[in-house]
Amino acid sequence: MKILLVGSGGREHTLAWKLKQSNKCEALFIAPGNAGTALTGTNLDVQINDFEGLSAACLQHSIEMVIVGPEEPLVKGITDFFKNDPNTAHIHIIGPSGEAAQLEGSKAFAKAFMKKYDIPTAAYEKFNEENYTEGVEYIRSHSLPIVLKADGLAAGKGVVICNSHLEALAEFELMVLRSKFGEAGRRVIVEEFLQGIEMSVFVLTDGKDYVLLPEAKDYKKIGEGDKGLNTGGMGAVSPVPFFDEELKKKITEKIIKPTIAGLQKEQLDYKGFVFIGLIVENNEAKVIEYNCRLGDPETEVVIPRLQNDLVDLLLATSQGRINEIEIDTDPSTAVAVVAVSGGYPGNYEKGKVIEGLDSVEIPGSFVFHSGTKKNKEEIVTNGGRVLVVTSYGENIQEAAEQSTYLLEQLYFEDIYFRSDIGFEFTNNG
Ligand code: AMP
Ligand code: GLY
Repeated sequence: MKILLVGSGGREHTLAWKLKQSNKCEALFIAPGNAGTALTGTNLDVQINDFEGLSAACLQHSIEMVIVGPEEPLVKGITDFFKNDPNTAHIHIIGPSGEAAQLEGSKAFAKAFMKKYDIPTAAYEKFNEENYTEGVEYIRSHSLPIVLKADGLAAGKGVVICNSHLEALAEFELMVLRSKFGEAGRRVIVEEFLQGIEMSVFVLTDGKDYVLLPEAKDYKKIGEGDKGLNTGGMGAVSPVPFFDEELKKKITEKIIKPTIAGLQKEQLDYKGFVFIGLIVENNEAKVIEYNCRLGDPETEVVIPRLQNDLVDLLLATSQGRINEIEIDTDPSTAVAVVAVSGGYPGNYEKGKVIEGLDSVEIPGSFVFHSGTKKNKEEIVTNGGRVLVVTSYGENIQEAAEQSTYLLEQLYFEDIYFRSDIGFEFTNNG
């Protein structure tokens, strides 16, 4: 099978690495990819939202399956675009329709979906310019902290947690009246703050049935000890030690099954990954978000633990046969540590030469590329998150130490990474 993977991050390098292990993968193209995916397949110079360009590339290379990594093209309707064009309608496309992708694309849509299907989530109300004064009253009488969420996609920045009413009112005004997060962000969800520990589950569904992939916990803060600004993710672990059989059963019955049943009842066309972000307190989980794709860096620990052939799995998804699949998981622990450019998540420079990539090889560790590109014979930085090292281990401490050790052998100017990923589950925590 000839496959096109859309995206250019560590998630896509990991998927490319896994797809390449399948003997059913005849040829692999990545659009636009990075310097890492170029080692695994053929990068195409087409951007993720250029649907015409992607469609033309599919015809040129006789592509039979398209896997969409990031959310933006999904929310913009790439799946519908391919399905509605007779030239590309035959291609297996992994990712939900634009309407179904609203589970991630609109917080208001996701909240209404959860309410309708009785899926546990934080209590909330929805406001815009029309009921602005009601919103002000609601915020004034809300307990602290208060969580404000912009409705539309905001590249991970649309959530603000406010510790005072004054701050919440100021943010609310900025969002609704001054379009801080753009037009879609003028609709705001005001919700209850949930205490507890975050983790995520990943489901692959054909719209009727599903399989549960390995779970993960990511580390969003830039600083060690979970301090400082939020990032796209500085590391991840899988399995999650407190995700025991009892919690798994509760999440399956109260969250996963109603979610899949809800998709079907709403007749949402969903063939792809559902990433369910959870907060767990006292062994009870509530949903904080749905994403219509895999996470990054969660993919870098989830996919290495998956032992099934990924092409088989995705083909079964596309053909509505996911009920025939049984997931086979590697019992090892995987820990991913992300190396970022100095200054990230604020301003940072690109184009720094990365050294050590050819000379470092440790069994049980993998270097996945995120923001990298080839510049003549060198590989240089090309983003905030640059490299992701995943290691297997007997436990979190061992795997995390191995990933950190490998990263210490790599260098680019102002490289930074956290050396405490998984800290609360180790002797250092
Ligand atoms: P989201 O974009 O909805 O995933 O939110 C981004 C981050 O904000 C989450 O990963 C949580 O750390 C935090 N967050 C979102 N909603 C809540 C909530 N209701 N209570 C506590 N923290 C939250
Ligand atoms: N690591 C969080 C995300 O991919 O959304």
